[in-house]
Amino acid sequence: MTGTPATPADVDQSPEHFLGLSGAHIVATDTLLATRDNLVDVIDTKAMMCVHGDAGLGKTLSVNASLRDLVPEAVCRVQFRARPTPRDIRHTLFDALAVSGPPPAREISGAGL
Ligand SMILES: Nc1ncnc2c1ncn2[C@@H]1O[C@H](COP(=O)(O)OP(=O)(O)OP(=O)(O)O)[C@@H](O)[C@H]1O
Ligand SMILES: [Mg+2]
Repeated sequence: MTGTPATPADVDQSPEHFLGLSGAHIVATDTLLATRDNLVDVIDTKAMMCVHGDAGLGKTLSVNASLRDLVPEAVCRVQFRARPTPRDIRHTLFDALAVSGPPPAREISGAGL
């Protein structure tokens, strides 16, 4: 990975299903449905959400499938470099969201990026 923000095309190159399994379908698992419900609330309240869990449980698939269905036009994908600092996160989000003005020089408690 590099410090350069990835373009959407760079970030979303992985196949939907593990190893690009052909003919596989998305199943409405409890994980997928719970993720979708949570995303509806998060989008509605313009909040943030962190999805975590053991490897291979379906986090990425659930988020991607839900966002594609809910707000396909409003998805902005970013990829942070390995071990990003708060400054890296601020600048990556600043660039990806095309925030006007100069990038933040330092964090501001409780506001901004
Ligand atoms: N709802 C689902 N319907 C069908 N297949 C699924 C579903 N959820 C997960 N899978 C299958 O399981 C694989 C692993 O899921 P996914 O990549 O979303 O896991 P993950 O939790 O993001 O894993 P990691 O922690 O390694 O990033 C998918 O590629 C897909 O083949
Ligand atoms: Mg994943």
